Amino acid sequence: MVRVVTIDGPSGSGKGTIARLLADRLGWHCLDSGALYRLVGLAADRAGVSFDDPVALEAVARGLEAEFVGERVLLGGEDVGLAIRTEQAGNLASKVAAVPGVRAALLDWQRAYARPPGLVADGRDMGTVVFPDAPVKVFLTADAEERARRRHKQLLEKGISANFAHLVAEIRERDERDRSRAVAPLKAPAAALEIESTALPIAGVLDRVLERVRSAFPDLAV
Ligand code: C5P
Repeated sequence: MVRVVTIDGPSGSGKGTIARLLADRLGWHCLDSGALYRLVGLAADRAGVSFDDPVALEAVARGLEAEFVGERVLLGGEDVGLAIRTEQAGNLASKVAAVPGVRAALLDWQRAYARPPGLVADGRDMGTVVFPDAPVKVFLTADAEERARRRHKQLLEKGISANFAHLVAEIRERDERDRSRAVAPLKAPAAALEIESTALPIAGVLDRVLERVRSAFPDLAV
């Protein structure tokens, strides 16, 4: 059994940052499952597929020609690392993510990331659906305005312009869609360590997660 730590939470809760820091600290693999949904959204948009056509969206997910090469994300050989990070791509992702066939198509792909020595997986349903037996599950939250502030900063750092008020509205809209969908809705897994990070710096969040990791895997020297 490969060791898995899951980190779920809403958009902008800091789960991607924590997952990356934790994976580096442990020397484990890292799965950014949101990137897969973003890729399906982008591929569907580019192919002119209707977002109201679940069969066609599932076909896009099954035929996805995506590759992760180091920090680069390729779609059909083209680097789409920036294109998948826009808020529009996040919104398209959350639309395709509500389609059961799309989620099913990505399941094996995600599980294949669980390779020795271990995996840190971040997303919305890592602890509830994809890795239900993970010994450590974390659920990160923060209030919507704080998450929008973080997202705004991240986007500006990447040279992507964004309007703060729109970001808050988009984050709320995306949360609502992710929480209310019928399949794999965003919710805290049972027995998850829940961390409210509105006023907690990244280092404080990481410390709390590490504490949980140490108690689940006492042989790890971290
Ligand atoms: O985490 P990120 O913001 O990149 O995710 C983009 C969208 O992909 C989310 O709003 C959500 O709808 C979807 N997603 C999902 N399940 C995951 C990861 C992401 O439904 N495990």
